[in-house]
Amino acid sequence: MKSRSLPLIASLTLVTTALAAPSGPVQEGSAIIPKPVSLQEKLGEPGFSLSQGIRIAPGSISGMASRVLQNVGIKTQISDKNPELVFSTDDKLGKEAYRLNVTPQKITVESSTPQGAFYALQSLAQSVTKDDKGTICFPTMAIEDAPRFSWRGLMVDSCRHMMPAKDIKKVIDLLARYKFNTLHWHLTDDQGWRIEIKKYPKLTEVGSSRTHSPIMGQRNKPDGVPYSGYYTQDEIKDVVKYAKQRGITIIPEIEVPGHAAAAITAYPELGNKDIENYDPKVVCSWGVFPYIFAPTEETFKFLDDVLTEVAELFPDSPFIHVGGDEAPKDQWKKSATAQKIMKENGLKNEEELQSYFIRRVEKLVNSKGKRLIGWDEINEGGLSPTASMMVWRDIRWARHAIERGNDVVMTHTDSLYLDYSQGPGAPNKPEYEVIGGNVPLEKVYAFNPVPSGITKEQEKHVLGCQGNVWSEYIPDINKFQYQVFPRALALAEIAWTPLELKNEADFKNRLNKQLPYLDEQKVNYRRPDNGAPARPDVVIKTTAPEKNQ
Ligand code: ACM
Repeated sequence: MKSRSLPLIASLTLVTTALAAPSGPVQEGSAIIPKPVSLQEKLGEPGFSLSQGIRIAPGSISGMASRVLQNVGIKTQISDKNPELVFSTDDKLGKEAYRLNVTPQKITVESSTPQGAFYALQSLAQSVTKDDKGTICFPTMAIEDAPRFSWRGLMVDSCRHMMPAKDIKKVIDLLARYKFNTLHWHLTDDQGWRIEIKKYPKLTEVGSSRTHSPIMGQRNKPDGVPYSGYYTQDEIKDVVKYAKQRGITIIPEIEVPGHAAAAITAYPELGNKDIENYDPKVVCSWGVFPYIFAPTEETFKFLDDVLTEVAELFPDSPFIHVGGDEAPKDQWKKSATAQKIMKENGLKNEEELQSYFIRRVEKLVNSKGKRLIGWDEINEGGLSPTASMMVWRDIRWARHAIERGNDVVMTHTDSLYLDYSQGPGAPNKPEYEVIGGNVPLEKVYAFNPVPSGITKEQEKHVLGCQGNVWSEYIPDINKFQYQVFPRALALAEIAWTPLELKNEADFKNRLNKQLPYLDEQKVNYRRPDNGAPARPDVVIKTTAPEKNQ
């Protein structure tokens, strides 16, 4: 028996490790989004046949490579016998850059980091095509690629409505495919505190629940349905790890001094408790509300403790986002304590008090080894020279910050608010109600993150751009996908591709070729041809969230 089985095993090994035969001629090129810096394809010539799958060289990247390629239906095997997909290091390449070369026999990836290799794999995964006999293959091609910006982000608001962690992971999967590298996670707001903080359990015991929400489609009426939920620290660690494995850093946002009603409801001593009719409540409607943190030592001690836990949960995030937007000053005006603090610190008005507050918080953020980033209102009362600014209102705030040497991330409402309307065609149903605005796909694509009027030298202060997805009218993953896709693909391209390669018609052509993948992944994207949801079968939630997980 032994003598008969050995040759059989040997011959099997020979079959699986033989060099793959080339595919037939390939006519259809790849449709990569975001468009690479340089892509040369040999159309009409044989490509790399995937009919037998692909042998990946063993190494630290092989597991990830296998996962990315299997996700697009390619059979993989990790083997050092005639490997067909091989990785090598070129330290001269930038952190996120890569070189990818596909011939009928072999695929090589060069990068200086696993991140660069990951992007090469995403380009490869997006290049699966068929030869003229219908065999699955890659076209013969050579790509050299690197991103235009280092911040390619999407903001998820988990406060007005929260998605379970498993759905945040689905979002991460799609962001990774399109080479995003940042997820900004908005975790605290008036309508709910959504991150477990061990030292302050009431933040989630009290601050994560509201008694009702506006009715979808009738925004001024309460639905009468309690809404609550938060992410445990274990869930957050798990999501952060999942994102890291996909090249995505999660930047947490803890809002100060405004958008703080949930925190103040949990710990009323943190608010301006010396004002008349002081009665904080987790907010049950949408808008801007008066409860803001008192500028006291007690508040700064609380924030120090919270930021300690937050910094530990997000070890790879270079930043902590501290909000800073839409902080009405009425309570500070009325509070004798706040006024006394202003006097003691020589602050002329409440805007200067805001600046004082943000600078105090910046010291805390820095003490955890992180940089502060905040919405453009952190400029009120004077911008800290070391803060980074997320510009959402007027582009002139970006110029103002850049001229002072501060870094900016562009998230302009007019072009990058993905909770806004996308133009005609949306279903006229309550679940498809939007907050307002008008940001069609073409407007996202037209946006240049570098503001006009700044010098070449100053461009380095533009870290990149980000789409914001506020969730007042986004109760679940299905509506989220409708709002975000395919506009996120336009965003991916303006964040990655050199300006001179931008071409809307070419982008739309490639976009159409991406839709089958989104269909396969069951994404409820907005159909670019008619605005309808890709999955009319899904039911969009109108009330309480799924419990965690
Ligand atoms: C914002 O949209 N309030 C940053």
